Amino acid sequence: MRSENMLICPLCKAPLAAEGRSFYCKGEKRHCYDVASSGYVNLLPPGKKSNAKTGDDREMLRSRRSFLSGGHYDRISEAAAREALSVLGHRNSITFADAGCGDGYHALNIEKYYKGLGIDCAAVGLEASKHGAEAASKLAKKENSAAFFVAANIFDMPLCDKSCDIVFSMFAPVPDAEALRVLRDDGVLLVCSSGSYHLWEMREVIYTSPRVSEPLSRVPEGFCLASKASLKYSFSLDSNEAIEALFTMTPFYYRCPKEGRERLLSLDSLTVTAETEYKVYIKADNKDI
Ligand SMILES: C[S@@+](CC[C@H](N)C(=O)[O-])C[C@H]1O[C@@H](n2cnc3c(N)ncnc32)[C@H](O)[C@@H]1O
Repeated sequence: MRSENMLICPLCKAPLAAEGRSFYCKGEKRHCYDVASSGYVNLLPPGKKSNAKTGDDREMLRSRRSFLSGGHYDRISEAAAREALSVLGHRNSITFADAGCGDGYHALNIEKYYKGLGIDCAAVGLEASKHGAEAASKLAKKENSAAFFVAANIFDMPLCDKSCDIVFSMFAPVPDAEALRVLRDDGVLLVCSSGSYHLWEMREVIYTSPRVSEPLSRVPEGFCLASKASLKYSFSLDSNEAIEALFTMTPFYYRCPKEGRERLLSLDSLTVTAETEYKVYIKADNKDI
């Protein structure tokens, strides 16, 4: 299935069909959604107040892009792709959704990883920020990828029932019920989150007594844990700009004390630990299959 063929109307839930540079729903009202010049489609239901505020703004996306383009997190996307596949089992084609995909970095890396294994891939990225979906589409075009990006709410995904083999949640909120709906019976949900010591050296600079964070322990409703893995490595940032770009895309950016921020932003280099956890869930109904 091509990723565009998985889409449904966010208003009446009827399938969407592409006609020229628009998508029309097959419902009575034929709701129409235009594809933006960058290639993404906005399927955020019109008029919802949250649309304007949810998601990263352009400044945060710029920082994210600037940091991620350094390749420091490539291993994180590859580990996510690998762990999900190890539970799903090898197949010739995979359809996946990246829920809360930001600027599409992980979705495109994951697609590349599967293609490298000879797996035919249909990828769709869902992101609340229109700027994010736009940036992701531009990146996909640049990388000659067929991945499709949609501005959408992951808690009300504009995707057909049972259309995905994998739903990825990379450092994003986990939409339990919607992941359960859009996954095939044998599909898997991969949740990637920060480990206890993720970016520890950055925390040591910002805070006088940094705290070890609690890893996520909640099992998404309707799922059961099939596998668990972690990844730990360090990488070096060799400019003040690179340090600032990473800092701006972390939650510390919003809540760290002024002196800590100043200390960090006066540095010209920093070696940091990346620590991530990967949990792969299968549908609880399917655990005995
Ligand atoms: C920490 S960022 C991670 C982005 C990306 N997965 C990455 O790792 O680079 C979390 C992302 O989830 C998105 N997000 C949060 N709530 C969302 C929602 N209800 N629907 C769609 N996206 C959402 C945010 O806009 C943001 O881009």
